[in-house]
Amino acid sequence: MPEREVVLGIESSCDEMAAAVVRRGREIVASVVRGQAEVHGPYGGVVPELASRAHVRTVSAVVKAALTEAELTVEHLHAVAVTAGPGLVGSLLVGLSFGKALAYRLGIPVVGVHHVMGHLAAAELADDRLRPPYLGLAVSGAHTALYRLRVDAAPLLLGQTRDDAVGEAFDKVAKLLGLSYPGGPAVAAAAVAGNPRAVAFPRPMASADGLDFSFSGLKTAVALEVERRGRGSPLSPGTVSDLAASFEAAAVDVLVARARTAMAQEQQTRLAVVGGVAANTQLRQRMAAAADQDGFEVVFPPPALCTDNAAMIAAAGFALLARGERHGLGLNAFSRVPIDAPPWMSSASS
Ligand code: KG4
Ligand code: ZN
Repeated sequence: MPEREVVLGIESSCDEMAAAVVRRGREIVASVVRGQAEVHGPYGGVVPELASRAHVRTVSAVVKAALTEAELTVEHLHAVAVTAGPGLVGSLLVGLSFGKALAYRLGIPVVGVHHVMGHLAAAELADDRLRPPYLGLAVSGAHTALYRLRVDAAPLLLGQTRDDAVGEAFDKVAKLLGLSYPGGPAVAAAAVAGNPRAVAFPRPMASADGLDFSFSGLKTAVALEVERRGRGSPLSPGTVSDLAASFEAAAVDVLVARARTAMAQEQQTRLAVVGGVAANTQLRQRMAAAADQDGFEVVFPPPALCTDNAAMIAAAGFALLARGERHGLGLNAFSRVPIDAPPWMSSASS
């Protein structure tokens, strides 16, 4: 399949503009990610309108940077893979329009990729031997869900959050504790010096039936504790660390407990943990220990492939191209998309 060997991936579903060149869906030749911390930092969270405007300013330079890093020109590209959803529509449209225009100008195919399929593809990129069947736990700023990855079929959703995503909880807790944006890494850094047993925060649904998650109660418990400790005045650094560590321990407990239940129920031997929160050191360590105890294998992509990037989109796109998917200039952006039936897909499974 040499005609689709070199795929350019473009990802712009939230506040990262990313471009990557991946060969045969396996070899990352170049990967460039440009964040927008300086744009959204002052607001303590992503402002969608500002995100899309910043993307317009950077998309061309980021794609060029990826090609330069790959020591290739556009003429070497065989296809473009671009995130079409779910995400912020204004942000998605920037990468999507750029990708479609480039593919049109080069006369090469373009395929739309489901963002979470991209995250899951990162695990297969990281571990050559990983192929369905296995379970996937996607943990990011917008998603907290468990999937069964199947051979020749779309992922089957086993459970998901009923309210906040776990990354969203990290981001909101960072704000409550007065930490900088982006919140996840800031909470994790503050937690290093804290006592994870300082406050026994709730472990919502950790032992309930089913495989759903809930994080809004945990977030509210942190808000109440901040209120109780601070009474309007700033928290001491020691208290911030203790609350960060106690929150992180509770969130990680829930994710590990849910994953263990799912692995046992589904009788699977391999688990892939993907998405921005999969970069969290505590989660990586605690899940690895649980996997050891229970006798399953866990795959974490390296941190740079956990948070949003375009290498994962190119890898997922390569698999779609190999199945004959082509999406043309009519490809549109969608804020919400079921993983098993993206509307732009020509075949039934994604
Ligand atoms: O996958 P991602 O880059 O974007 C989405 O698809 O949402 O995930 C971003 C999320 C944010 O909520 C961020 O705070 C969280 O991942 N995150 C972390 C860490 N690094 C990123 N959460 C906890 N610990 C980290 N080290
Ligand atoms: Zn993501």
